[in-house]
Parts: sequence; structure tokens; C-alpha cells
Amino acid sequence: MNRKDVPSKTPETFHVKSFGCQMNVYDGERMAEMLAGQGMTASTDGAQADLVILNTCHIREKAVDKVYSDIGRMVRDDGTRPMIAVAGCVAQAEGEEISRRAKSVDIVVGPQAYHRLPALISKAVRGEEAVDTDMPAFSKFDALPGRTKQARPTAFLTIMEGCDKFCTYCVVPYTRGAEISRSWCAIIDEAKALVDGGVREITLLGQNVNAWTGEDDKGRLQGMEGLVRSLAAIPDLKRIRYTTSHPNDMSEGLIAAHGDVEKLMPFLHLPVQSGNDRILKAMNRSHDVDSYLRVIERVRAVRPDIAVSGDFIVGFPGETDAEFEDTLKIVAQVRYSQCYSFKYSPRPGTPAAGMDGQIDSAIMDERLARLQTLINAHQQEFNAATVGRQTDILLERKGRHAGQLIGKTPWLQSVHITAPELSIGDMVDVDIVSAGPNSLAGQPSRRKAA
Ligand code: 5AD
Ligand code: SF4
Repeated sequence: MNRKDVPSKTPETFHVKSFGCQMNVYDGERMAEMLAGQGMTASTDGAQADLVILNTCHIREKAVDKVYSDIGRMVRDDGTRPMIAVAGCVAQAEGEEISRRAKSVDIVVGPQAYHRLPALISKAVRGEEAVDTDMPAFSKFDALPGRTKQARPTAFLTIMEGCDKFCTYCVVPYTRGAEISRSWCAIIDEAKALVDGGVREITLLGQNVNAWTGEDDKGRLQGMEGLVRSLAAIPDLKRIRYTTSHPNDMSEGLIAAHGDVEKLMPFLHLPVQSGNDRILKAMNRSHDVDSYLRVIERVRAVRPDIAVSGDFIVGFPGETDAEFEDTLKIVAQVRYSQCYSFKYSPRPGTPAAGMDGQIDSAIMDERLARLQTLINAHQQEFNAATVGRQTDILLERKGRHAGQLIGKTPWLQSVHITAPELSIGDMVDVDIVSAGPNSLAGQPSRRKAA
């Protein structure tokens, strides 16, 4: 197919716009590093870049509509437009359709194929169809260049991808494919390269990150515990986090690591989605309320101060008022430090989308508002409990005011401090002086750290 409206100039500048989860942020960074390695220049101004990559998310509603409206807005005042690539999960799920419907989309590249972006750009320049939604069995990571100097002291590192759980509401098993773990050596090498490039905190990523498994450099079978312990031995790496975990994959070893690996931060994102066993079964979560609570109990036994966060869906098909009340109950029981909560959104091709008892949007709004009121109250309480305490923070970025810097506590709370003498990347002991719902204020501590 020849597409005459494709900008035929080889792009020199590019802009990546990532939506959705942290893995998309990571993928966006890897794409940017790859294109920079090919001699292209990153542009902060999306409107002027020669190539715009929309790195899309398909997890909830309106993702596709948003892509089309973003594409529409890319025509400039003089009638020209950038070369447009649709990447990520929408590309995977609806790529062929997008390519047919939106003539100004030049490239469609799925999440497992973005290492082929340079070849797709060349195809697009030649006016050829440039669609690649293959899911090769080997890891795209092997085909990407290594990590370079990083602008920030924190970085994501994808260690596994895909999902075999098939929760009935979720598109991820279809868009990201089956679970694949990256190799031990690739992960350790990438972590070392990130640390050499200035990174002090790494967040390991995977849709089921704690299902990671592989052989270490001595051929021994390892899980997340071994990986975390090995990463903790990298001297200049100060903090390790991981997300997102499935309750059924919280191994004894990983739980134990929370008790004795100091660099493993006391934070656990462990979604439960609903507090009702019948709904959990209909969601195909393969755990119940009790087994979930027992996991949290075991983690808290070895790390009592651990902050637990979660994800919730309200209005899953057939959810009654009483079943929703069970979700409020589990929230009250666990007392999360923060949570993400969503209205159920039927995803094309998932089993739940065809289930009876789809819930009215207004009822979902009501339930979501009640749930979020409770979650916010707990988050505020959690933050307020840190006032007067001393903790270390890793400074990540500048604040809005002169001399202001923002860092994170081990429990993932943002702390604002005013300290012109300090720099991004510093670890500093601070006293927390006040707490809001979303962040804390601190000052560099004059006390010796405990
Ligand atoms: N509708 C609403 N929320 C969803 N999530 C995943 N699929 C759906 C859906 N169809 C939420 C889950 C998951 C998070 C990443 O997104 O809570 O944990
Ligand atoms: Fe989706 Fe469930 Fe897999 Fe999480 S565990 S990615 S919610 S299918």
C-alpha cells in the first residue's frame, strides 16, 4: 500500500508521549534512548518534532478515542504534521484498524516490537505500510542498545512482561502476551549500567513482577528473592522497589527479604481488586479475601512498618451493594497507605465484557466516590503519622519554588524541602514537619539519624 500523505523526510527530531502504566514510561525511555543512539534528537516540544510516538494504554475506557483525538490535534497551523507512530497496547489491540481508519498514522508498533522502530521509520519514509504487532518469543530487550547516563536518580527496569493470570476484566494478557522473564544476567547488567549512569533507586517492573523466575550466573533456579538480594549487593544502588505483585506469587523468600534486605524499601503494591469472594471468583483472581489478608499479615510480621498499596475495581458485572460494602471492609481492615481505584470498564475481547449484570455508570460513580473518600482518609492518616519523625529521602527533582527540592521517603511519600545547598540524587535525613493528603513537608535534620 502506498500512503501518499506520509511526510517523506527522514525525521531528525522525535517526541515520545507515554500514557498509562510505569512499564509504558520505561518502554518510552528505551525507545527514546534507541532513537537518540541512531542520531535523532529528542524534542521537548511535541508540536514541532518530526516524529511523534504515542505510547498508548488500553487498560481502561476511551483509550482509542483519545488516540484518534490526539492524532487529529497534530496537524500544525501551516497544514503540515509530524510523522506519527502509535505504539503500546492500543497499537497491539487495534493496530490494523487504526492504520486503516487514520490515514495520518504512519507507523503502528506493538509493545513487543519497538526494537524494530528504526526499520519501520525507514518504511514509512518510503511510503510503505509500517505495521508491526508481532509478539516474538525472544525478548526485544536483547535487540536494544544498553542504558546510557540517566537524567534522574530513579529508574524503572522491566524484569518480566506479560501475564498468564487472565483476570476476566483485563486486556493485559492479550496486549502484552504471555509471561516472559528477562534473563538474570540481562537484568543485573542493566541495573549496573543504570547505577554507573547515576541511578540510586531502581523499581523493578512487571505486570506480575513477583512471578519473575530464571537461572542465575551459576545455573541455579532463582525467583524474585534471589534477584533482589543480588541487586542489593551493587554498592552504589541505595534503594530497590518492585511493582506490580500478584498475591499468589508472594513467595516465602520474597517476604523474608522484606525483613532483612535493608535496600528493599518498605512498600508493597498488592492489588486485591475487590473485598468479596464471589466477585473475586468471577474476576478469576484465583485468591480469596482470606488468603490475601494472610499474605499481608506475613509481610507485616517481618516488616511491621511496611506501607501497603492496592488497586480496586468498583462495579464489576453483577456486583451488588452488599458485595461492594465488602470492598469498603477490606480497605478498613488493611489500611492502605495509598490506592488506585477504578470504575469497571468493559474491555473488548475479555470475558467480563460479555457477562450479565453490567452496572449502571451512575451507581459506579457513587461507589467509587465512597471508596475514594475512605482511601483518602487513610492516606491522610498515614501521612500525618510521619509528622515529627526523622527519615531519609532521595532527592528526585526540583520543586516549584527557588531552592525547593522534592524527594521520596522509603514509604513512597513525596517530601518537599527547601535546601539550596543540596542536589538531586542526594540522600538526606529530614525531619517531617507537616503532612497533606498527597505530600509531606520536611527540613534537613540536625539530629543524628537513628
Ligand atoms: N476496568 C477497570 N479497571 C481495570 N483494571 C484493569 N482492567 C480494568 C478494567 N477492565 C485496573 C486493575 C488493575 C489496574 C492496573 O487497572 O485494578 O490492577
Ligand atoms: Fe491483568 Fe490480572 Fe494479569 Fe494483573 S494479574 S495484568 S489484572 S490479568
